[in-house]
This record gives sequence, C-alpha cells and structure tokens, in this order.
Amino acid sequence: NGEFNIDSYKEKFEDLVRKQKRIVSIINTPANNPTGYSLSDEEWDKVLDIAKESAKDPENRIILMVDVAYIDYAGVGSERRKFFAKFSNLPENIFVLIGYSMSKGYTMYGMRSGAAIGISSKEEITNEFYYTCMHANRANWSNGTRGAMSVMTNISKDPAKKQAYEDEVNKYKVMLRNRANAFVDGAKECGLEILPYRDGFFVSIPCENSKKASDELIKENLFVVSLKKGLRFAVCAVSEEKCRMAPAKIKAVLDSLK
Ligand SMILES: Cc1ncc(COP(=O)(O)O)c(C=O)c1O
Repeated sequence: NGEFNIDSYKEKFEDLVRKQKRIVSIINTPANNPTGYSLSDEEWDKVLDIAKESAKDPENRIILMVDVAYIDYAGVGSERRKFFAKFSNLPENIFVLIGYSMSKGYTMYGMRSGAAIGISSKEEITNEFYYTCMHANRANWSNGTRGAMSVMTNISKDPAKKQAYEDEVNKYKVMLRNRANAFVDGAKECGLEILPYRDGFFVSIPCENSKKASDELIKENLFVVSLKKGLRFAVCAVSEEKCRMAPAKIKAVLDSLK
C-alpha cells in the first residue's frame, strides 16, 4: 500500500543484527525525500520496539540515524517533532543520531551547515560522541561555515528576529502544504497513483520506465526526476496552479507508455 513496511524493516534489521551485532539504521523522516512520507508516532513506536528487542542482548550495538533535513516544513505546528521524546531513556546500547541541516529550514543551501545531535541514556557515551566528532571534524574538514553559524546565533539570540524567522518559515510551510494538497487532489481527480504523501518538498509517482516518462514530460515543459521505480515531482518548486494541473499530464503520459 506504499506505506512504511514495518514487517520488512523488522526482518532486515534482525537479520543484520544477528549477523553483525552492529547496525546503523538510517531513516529519513519526517518529510522523506523523495517519497513525501513521514513516520507516524505509532510507526515510530514499532521501530523503537524492534530496536529495544535487539538491545536485550547487551553485545548488540544499535545506532538509529534520523535524517530530519526537512523537519521545519513537516506537519501542523510541532506535531512532527513529538517523536523526539521517544528517544529518552532508551537502553544504553541504542544510540540515536539526529542529522540536522540548515539548508532547508534556513533556506541556506550551499552554506553547508548543520548539526549531528547524539542522544544516549549514558553521559559517557554522549561525551565520547562529542569528542569523536570534534576530532574527526578537525581532521577532515576543519569547521562549519562561520556565516551560517552567525546567522543562526544572531537569529536565536534576538526575539524579534526569531519571530520574523518563524513567521517566514511558517509562510513557506503553508505555501508548500497548499501546493502539495493541490497535487494530491489533482491526482485523486484524474486517478493518478501516487505514494502516500504526508509532508515535504516532493511527491513520488510509482511507474515503470521512468526515464522515458520523464523525457516525454519534458516535451510538455514538465520536469520530474526519474527514479529507479518512479518519478519525483517537486511540489516545492512550482505554483499551486501548476501543482493542480501536473497530475493529469503525468497520467496521460504514463497511460500512453503502457
Ligand atoms: C534527505 C536529505 N537529507 C539531508 C540533506 C542534507 O542537505 P545538506 O547537505 O545541504 O545539509 C538533503 C538535501 O538535499 C536531503 O534531501
């Protein structure tokens, strides 16, 4: 049904832990690129139950890496941030690593700034993580960009700037939601199958022969990214009106290729 396949995740996770005793599981949520999927809080509980079950063997070492690059545009209010509370008091052999990027939330693509946030129930482990990152950064790429760090600290230290920043992010979040709704409604109207969209910059359309479909759509000035198993449409990049029209055009092309 295009939703997160928890049974398959469990099978793969347990299989790897059995073989390796070590696992790094990377989940890009909320607002997955390219699918537009976000794990619900119930799905998060199931993912954590799988990790906790494996953590019962103290020899196992589990890292959950959560890529939240698009979090600032996900959900209504802070509903898509509630899952962070679930990372408290996990067993010591589960380490959570949050990958945060300023590229999206601060519209600072190219400034290469973000953060790696480590969460553990044991202070010693977070300290080890901190010093390991510090040394690895210094040795590999020196430091984060000063311009981006200054922007973030200047904004967060000044309540008026913080408010203006939050208002601006919210404006774009609402704009994105309206565009995505237009695309999802347009898809429903014309019967175009899409993966379940919950949040984010992109909607994915499962199909065969995506390269050919993309080539045909370019002739109509409609630009999509061809993926292995489908097409990615960037609702973040075009107007609401175009988001509403696009599904019918995509459907017509996909039907013509059948
Ligand atoms: C899923 C995902 N994770 C992380 C990033 C990180 O972006 P950056 O390297 O610009 O911080 C991106 C950017 O496109 C992304 O799509």
